[in-house]
Amino acid sequence: MPRTSTRPPPRIDLPIGVFDSGIGGLTVVRAMRIALPREDIVYLGDTARVPYGGRGPDTVIRYARQCTRFLADRGLKMLVVACNTVSAVALDMLRVEFDVPVVGVIEPSARAAARATRTGRVGVIGTEGTIRSGAYDRALAAVSSRCEVLGHPAPLLVPLVEEGWIEGEVPRLAVERYLTPLCELGIDTLILGCTHYPVLRPLIDEVLATLSSRPVATVSSADAAANEVMATLDARELRRDERRGATRFYVTDRPEQFVHVGTKVFGADVETAELVDL
Ligand code: DGL
Repeated sequence: MPRTSTRPPPRIDLPIGVFDSGIGGLTVVRAMRIALPREDIVYLGDTARVPYGGRGPDTVIRYARQCTRFLADRGLKMLVVACNTVSAVALDMLRVEFDVPVVGVIEPSARAAARATRTGRVGVIGTEGTIRSGAYDRALAAVSSRCEVLGHPAPLLVPLVEEGWIEGEVPRLAVERYLTPLCELGIDTLILGCTHYPVLRPLIDEVLATLSSRPVATVSSADAAANEVMATLDARELRRDERRGATRFYVTDRPEQFVHVGTKVFGADVETAELVDL
């Protein structure tokens, strides 16, 4: 009888796993699709338990472990933690417990900000959990001795984006309210330290231009993470260069809402999402 091979696919052909607390990680997937069009991506959005931003570190760590286990069980060559809140508190644990290279969004954004700033005054907006953790302060201190981090939570921007309310008076007022204290402190660089904020980038850039007397550079954690993924794949010789890659989406609640908002607000190519239980 012919023997069927049980050999697993070569590592280079495995997908890259990406997870987020919900839909916001699509900004990272979008940036990765542009930077790495030939890679397969498997995305998990924990839409049943979003938002993570106001939860304590122990809860976020527990959720992160469950999300990673789900993706790792499907076979991965790399894991990308798209969520800033998870990257802020759970990255070290994931790197110790799981046997795949893990890329978070905070270290790459900190490096990009250190390159962009001239004065060393770097603002960060993110969820309560991200700002409270001090993760951006530590990441910037690790790459530059001349940077001062000025953090401000901006939680209201998350539901505004999910509502598709990304232009006009209401989001403008919210953005102004959050950025005024940072501009008064003289930042010249702003890290968009939350998955949802890159969707508001045009508005944020406009508001910064009116509030600040000097030009302020914005750093998107989604773009910074996509560049880091590319560099890590190259360093490990894991980059695939044949055929176009595909993306598969899993969510823990309301797949139809994920498809709708993912397409309409995040401009991602989401045709279908599969409902799963962690
Ligand atoms: N994904 C989260 C982050 O980037 C934002 C949404 C949430 O609070 O879960 O921090």
